[in-house]
Amino acid sequence: MRAKSSEGKMKTYIVQTEGSDVRLKIVERDRPTPGPGEVLVHLGAMSLNYHDMAVIRGDIPTADGRVPMSDGAGTVLAIGAGVTQWREGDRVLSTFFPDWADGTINIAKRRNVTGDTIDGVAAEYIVLPEKGVTRQPEGWSHAEASTLPCAALTAWRAVVVEGKVKPGDWVLVQGTGGVSVFALQFARAAGARVVATSSSDKKLEAMRDLGAEICINYRSTPKWGAEAANLTGGIDQIVEVGGPETLKESIKAARLGGHITMIGVLTGIKGEVPTAMFFQKNLHMTGVSVGSHAMQLDMIRAIEANDLRPVIDREFSFAELNEAFDHQADQAHLGKIIVKGIED
Ligand SMILES: NC(=O)c1ccc[n+]([C@@H]2O[C@H](COP(=O)([O-])OP(=O)(O)OC[C@H]3O[C@@H](n4cnc5c(N)ncnc54)[C@H](OP(=O)(O)O)[C@@H]3O)[C@@H](O)[C@H]2O)c1
Repeated sequence: MRAKSSEGKMKTYIVQTEGSDVRLKIVERDRPTPGPGEVLVHLGAMSLNYHDMAVIRGDIPTADGRVPMSDGAGTVLAIGAGVTQWREGDRVLSTFFPDWADGTINIAKRRNVTGDTIDGVAAEYIVLPEKGVTRQPEGWSHAEASTLPCAALTAWRAVVVEGKVKPGDWVLVQGTGGVSVFALQFARAAGARVVATSSSDKKLEAMRDLGAEICINYRSTPKWGAEAANLTGGIDQIVEVGGPETLKESIKAARLGGHITMIGVLTGIKGEVPTAMFFQKNLHMTGVSVGSHAMQLDMIRAIEANDLRPVIDREFSFAELNEAFDHQADQAHLGKIIVKGIED
């Protein structure tokens, strides 16, 4: 979108309730100024997450007028009083939990969620706390960097922080969305072998090209858990993004003493769990909600060291955010969907 906003104004998306519907609208607001400890960022690009879709559809209730979207990358235009970490021109990246600096999570650290409990990045200009942003990987475009704060960090935490994946481990990733494709990339970078599942044979070919050794179509092989266990001898780490329907199969796929990171809700939020098989196999399961500022910096360092690049499915213009979400809802994508900012 090239159409400029009028002087001192900017374009921003907001989530608004109209009757029983929740709608994503584009409006003009005053361009913000950074307060003490804040930076003003010109948005270069944002990426879509399943969580953002839940916010804009009203599945996750939020305040009327909330600016949605957690993941954005851009350039610092101005700094507020007392800001020491950033200068005008720095390329920065949002964080999902801007108050979670380091350590384990607690209520205070998870209270503010970008694009959910506080305003997000779907605007021409955004004000963010200086401690709530990180640098971008060296040499990355804003579009590439915008893929990282939610999906990549969750995958990083699943594979590296909680999963502690070692060379030679088998890692299973489910589907071909943002989290799973990054999980494949981090697992391969750690020297692990990967089993990928998908509803699409075409997408499985792409996952094979990215390094998946075993590919299983979960539609034509609904008992993919037993299949994965037979082919590998048992999976060490399972990146569980499906939820109740996939958890049963994940428990079957896991090796004795294996580990599952519970991340997603793609098949819902409750269901039956084969508890006896879970304890007979002496499995471990860890719940994961994204990660901290320190984890984001560790991940960026590892990305640079391993020369990783994100898998970008498609880029849309700022005006096409609704179309971008339609594309995500169709599950037509593999990896990340990007929406570019408005050029300065
Ligand atoms: N806990 C956290 O911190 C956290 C963070 C990020 C995301 N999440 C959750 O993780 C999930 C994935 O998020 P995302 O952003 O990666 O979503 P996404 O990019 O929209 O990915 C969706 C993909 O999931 C796959 N899928 C759908 N149903 C499936 C099933 N029954 N079995 C296996 N795969 C299935 C499909 O892949 P195919 O087309 O290949 O079949 C689909 O394309 C969501 O539930 C999201 O809420 C949680």
